[in-house]
Parts: sequence; structure tokens; C-alpha cells
Amino acid sequence: MKAIAQDRYGSADVLGLREVAEPPPLGPKDVLVGVRAAGVDRGVWHLMAGEPYAVRLGTGLRAPRQPVPGMDVAGVVTAVGADVSGFAAGDEVFGVGNGTFAEAAVVREGKLARKPATLSFAEAAAVPVSGVAALQAVRDQARVRAGQRVLVIGAGGGVGTFAVQIAKASGAHVTGLCSAGKAEAVSALGADEVLDYAQVDITDGTHRFDVVLDIAGNRPVRSLRRALEARGTLVIVGGEGGGRWLGMSRQLGALLLSPFVRQRLRMFVSTVRSPDLLALTELVDRGAVRPLIDRTYPLAEAPDAVRQLVAGTVTGKVVVTV
Ligand SMILES: NC(=O)c1ccc[n+]([C@@H]2O[C@H](COP(=O)([O-])OP(=O)(O)OC[C@H]3O[C@@H](n4cnc5c(N)ncnc54)[C@H](OP(=O)(O)O)[C@@H]3O)[C@@H](O)[C@H]2O)c1
Repeated sequence: MKAIAQDRYGSADVLGLREVAEPPPLGPKDVLVGVRAAGVDRGVWHLMAGEPYAVRLGTGLRAPRQPVPGMDVAGVVTAVGADVSGFAAGDEVFGVGNGTFAEAAVVREGKLARKPATLSFAEAAAVPVSGVAALQAVRDQARVRAGQRVLVIGAGGGVGTFAVQIAKASGAHVTGLCSAGKAEAVSALGADEVLDYAQVDITDGTHRFDVVLDIAGNRPVRSLRRALEARGTLVIVGGEGGGRWLGMSRQLGALLLSPFVRQRLRMFVSTVRSPDLLALTELVDRGAVRPLIDRTYPLAEAPDAVRQLVAGTVTGKVVVTV
């Protein structure tokens, strides 16, 4: 089958379109999906680049054990393992697998759900990794309630565009922080207020929020705390440039500090499972959430999709179509 593959870590230049072997025989809980679309997100970049180096402990020290990148997937089931009861050939699905920049990919049954009927394959493929990260940040970590003032840092990106919508759906007053070029899109997603970080220093002590969702920018925790109410909650979702080795020093600092201060300082690593995909489907079905697609790229141009992500010019998500 055709797939994008790499045999060493590096920039998007290591990616190329190749003929690779079909996926191996299915395990009992595996589902084989004919890929129609695959989302591109920062996690794809981390695994492709092997950075921070800590990721190589799981993916191969010298070279990636899985040569085909891609996690998000939307497509059509072509075969199911012996113990799979929830899906059958022909079902349109979305979820998270391994090596989804390919004509076919294997996905665990527990990381799959039926594709929301109103979404195209490309839209559905934009949802799993970023949508679930946003859902878990808003619902589980921040526990956003109606009426709270929520700041979304990185509001124009993959996770941020979902976080703005999910926080709005929770009844919060949402402020999105992004560059000027993404302000209109963030506003159209429902943000009550949009601030340009080139114009406004959100950490100067004049803005206070009940919840800060820190998705981008790597601001120090002590600065972010100045944007929080006395009993507010900071959730560190991510942010690039946190170091080539571990990349999580801010997160660990926040965890260590949290027991000693009145503010709640949280970090988390999201996991995609079917119930959260179903929760997102419900939000999509009632019109509260819609993935924002910046651009789609055909499979052969997947390296350019990754390059656009790294360049920081994606508003919402880019998606590879197969
Ligand atoms: N904890 C988890 O489980 C989890 C799950 C998924 C992702 N993540 C992490 O979350 C982070 C974001 O992922 P993503 O997929 O949303 O990335 P993304 O699509 O690249 O979005 C990041 C956004 O941040 C904005 N940004 C850059 N510098 C900024 C600054 N100084 N202040 C405010 N905004 C800034 C960028 O656009 P503008 O500068 O143009 O506004 C961009 O829209 C990554 O580090 C990723 O690894 C963590």
C-alpha cells in the first residue's frame, strides 16, 4: 500500500511517499480502517522529529520503530479482529491509531467511534487528538462551570480552537489569546473576547481569570499565576520550546508547586478513548463544536502539511486526505 514513511528522525524532509507492507494480521481487538483522512498535530511532529528526546524511549532510540507517522484517522472499516463487537466492515469511523498517513491503518476498538454524520472524513480526522485534549482540559482538569471566566492561550491552534468551543458550550465567558491573523477565526468560533498577544501582556496583573488553559507559548508558571484569580485553576496542556530532553519542565514545576498555593496548577497527558470521542460527537451533533480546517493536503504532500504546522500558520487544523 502507499504510505508516508521515514527511517530516521528529523525535519519533514525525512518523510516520503513509499510502497510499504500492508498492516500485519489483526489482533483480537483490532480494527482495520481504510484511511480517508488523517489529522496532523504537534504530536505527529514530536514523533517524526524524535523530540523531546524522551519520546524516543517509547518510539525507538536511534530510529522510529513505526516508520509511518500519523495518529488521527477517519475512514471506513474494512476488517475486524475476532473479539471486536462494536464495528463491522463498511462502518464510517474516526479515532486514533498508529501509522495513519497510509491507505490503511490498524486502530484498537477502544480508540474508535462512529464518524459524526454531519462531518466529512477530513473534518472528523481533525477531531480525535486535539478535540480530546481540549475536552479533557476543559471538562476534567479545569472542571469549567457556567459563568466562569476562561482564558485560552493558543486559541487559534489545533487544541485551542476546540477548547474555545468546548468552554463556550460549558457556559463560560471565553477569552482567546492568539496572533492578530487568527483573531477573526477565534471570534467566529464563539470567543467572547479575543486578545492579540503582541499587543496585550496577559500576565501583567491587570487581567484575572478563573481558569487559564495554557496551550501555547511557554510562559513561566509564575507569570501565568498573575493571570489567575486567587483560587483559579491553571491547566498546562502544552507549549513548544520546553527543552530538547524532557520538554515538560513547566508542567513538573506546576505540579510540585500546586500543593503549596491556593491556586490549582494542573498538567496532564491526554489519552484518546471511545467515550470521549462519543462526547465530542454529541457536541458536534448539537452544533456546539465544529472542527476548523485550515487546509487539506493529498497524501503525497503530507510533508508540506507538517511544514505548515511547524511554520505556525495553521488556523485550526491541517488534514491529510487519502
Ligand atoms: N497535554 C496533552 O495531552 C496534549 C495533547 C495535545 C497537544 N498537546 C500540546 O499542546 C500544544 C499545542 O498543540 P496544538 O496541536 O494546538 O498546536 P498548534 O496547532 O501548533 O497550535 C498552537 C497555537 O499556539 C499559537 N501560539 C504560538 N505562540 C504563542 C504565544 N506565545 N502565545 C499564544 N499563542 C501562541 C500559535 O498560533 P499564533 O501564534 O499565530 O496565535 C498556534 O495557533 C503542543 O505543545 C502539543 O504538543 C498536549
